[in-house]
Amino acid sequence: MGCETGMTSSADERPEEHLLGQYIPLHYHFNMLRDESRMRPFREAIELTVPLGGTVLELGGGTGVLSWFAAQQARKVYCVERNPALVRAARSFLEQNTHGDRVAVVQADAITYLPPEPVDVVICEMLHVGMIREKQLEILASFQERYRRTFGPRLPKFIPDTTLLAIQPIEQDFCFHGYHAPVPMFDPAGPHMADRCLADPHIYSTIDYRSELPLEFAVDTRLTMQRRGQFNAVSFLTNNFLAFLLNEQRAVQWMMNQLILPIAEPMEVLAGDSVAIQFAYRAGCSLESLQESLLVTPMPHAIPIQPHLAQRRAA
Ligand SMILES: C[S@@+](CC[C@H](N)C(=O)[O-])C[C@H]1O[C@@H](n2cnc3c(N)ncnc32)[C@H](O)[C@@H]1O
Repeated sequence: MGCETGMTSSADERPEEHLLGQYIPLHYHFNMLRDESRMRPFREAIELTVPLGGTVLELGGGTGVLSWFAAQQARKVYCVERNPALVRAARSFLEQNTHGDRVAVVQADAITYLPPEPVDVVICEMLHVGMIREKQLEILASFQERYRRTFGPRLPKFIPDTTLLAIQPIEQDFCFHGYHAPVPMFDPAGPHMADRCLADPHIYSTIDYRSELPLEFAVDTRLTMQRRGQFNAVSFLTNNFLAFLLNEQRAVQWMMNQLILPIAEPMEVLAGDSVAIQFAYRAGCSLESLQESLLVTPMPHAIPIQPHLAQRRAA
């Protein structure tokens, strides 16, 4: 989602969900509705994917906006939302918009809901950087299994189609008006990062929503620095491929804000230095538990072995 705050509604009693930000109050949806970097690709992907007269399921419908995009082409859209305040809001907004009557807003938990008929497309935007804090993967893994059991082996198309998760070592300025405060932060990824990145991104997961979905991530990798700098943070990058247009040889993408996590012991690095990065977390976990698991260790400088010595050793 475009939401990176911990803001929650007081309507729900479940503290873990408040903590994780899965309950997003109506006034925060405004930020998602006006976030063009999110809305434009979702609208395009939905227009390209939903067949005329088709059926669509949206899990986590919020204000109903993505279901409404789908309703411009679909015969029927099932829009599942758990938060009663959002259910009321979505029903009222849909009444005010053309073809809103094609959307049935269902108040239910997406972890157990199945539509009454097979669908052509499933839309699910319970996305958060690194797949933390929201239940996108848990809900879609459960959906795949229950859908196959009820409707057979053929799964619908998913929006997003694929998500790539990556990390990148960076040099981050944590100085605010002269005050040094290395706090986790969210920042748009983009060209302004070029002189802060110390190495290319390392992809640690490729999530294909029509395949088995990962619910745990465990990364233990070595990265080689490509430039000199102060390595003081790891950036978590999340790029969602909402739809692929094979005939146009392009994808509709939503690159989310990167999550920048400061590391416990910043280090000076030179190009060619190696650093070990380890972390492990469960999809949907808190930002804090990802941060607690993050371990960065400088590796001793690699001593290049001469090829003829290597051959002699092998012999
Ligand atoms: C990031 S918002 C996206 C809302 C809307 N789809 C949009 O794109 O503007 C995720 C929505 O999923 C809902 N949600 C979270 N967990 C849910 C669950 N288990 N079942 C149904 N809805 C859920 C939240 O209340 C929220 O409205």
